[in-house]
Amino acid sequence: MKEVTMEKVIIFGNATQGLLGHFLLTHDSPYQVVAFTVDGKYIKEKELQGLPVLPFDEIESIYPPESCKMHIPVLGWAPKLREEKYHQAKAKGYELINYISSKAVTWPDLVIGDNCSIGEGSICRPFVQIGNDVLIQAGCNIGHNTVIKDHCFIASHAVLLGMVTVEPYTFIGANATIDNGVTIARECVIGAGTVIRTNTKEKEVYRANPPALLPLPSDKMMNMYFARQ
Ligand SMILES: CC(C)(COP(=O)(O)OP(=O)(O)OC[C@H]1O[C@@H](n2cnc3c(N)ncnc32)[C@H](O)[C@@H]1OP(=O)(O)O)[C@@H](O)C(=O)NCCC(=O)NCCS
Repeated sequence: MKEVTMEKVIIFGNATQGLLGHFLLTHDSPYQVVAFTVDGKYIKEKELQGLPVLPFDEIESIYPPESCKMHIPVLGWAPKLREEKYHQAKAKGYELINYISSKAVTWPDLVIGDNCSIGEGSICRPFVQIGNDVLIQAGCNIGHNTVIKDHCFIASHAVLLGMVTVEPYTFIGANATIDNGVTIARECVIGAGTVIRTNTKEKEVYRANPPALLPLPSDKMMNMYFARQ
């Protein structure tokens, strides 16, 4: 019987997002994760999940790019730092893989760069274009004709309606909604739960209203609602 060999991949990152990347690639991709890598000063343990954690500046001498690919699913809040690692990894000769969850919905016309991820339950509708190094978490709606440019991060359950454009380095928080046809300028932070209905300007930060704390305990509130039924 012919042996099936999986392509090998190194994950950049040794904290929560790196471990999440390891889990997703291990359980839901044609890749075998063989190592973690980070800048030497950030190495805490020599091993994670039974795999070596190796210094990024020496990685090519241990796992050369001819034998391995790389994925950088980290630094959601630091897109320019992720971009730096993205270019450094490419300069070393690594191909940067995409992770598209088998539980995401995409169409065959999806245009997508490299080092992207699309989490479970996310939907990319027809005519979507995604640049390089774009991380899309779980349960997002990427509406038809939407364009997301390089080095953006889209947190879980964000809703981008149709024909949205997201310029580079932008962070879109969980449950944010971007209306049809809106352009989010580069380097914006769109806070969790905000509803953006008009174009934004470069480097703007939007935050949703803080929730109101009501002056009664929860059992009183629950009894009140229970009594109404
Ligand atoms: C938009 C968001 C980033 C704002 O963050 P925040 O911590 O709630 O913001 P704050 O109101 O505390 O303000 C942040 C800072 O800006 C400062 N700031 C606020 N308004 C300011 C103003 N008008 N002028 C100057 N500074 C101001 C605050 O003082 C604070 O600084 P400090 O911490 O030194 O006091 C946050 O609400 C959010 O949505 N985060 C994304 C969550 C998410 O989706 N995560 C997904 C992860 S996977």
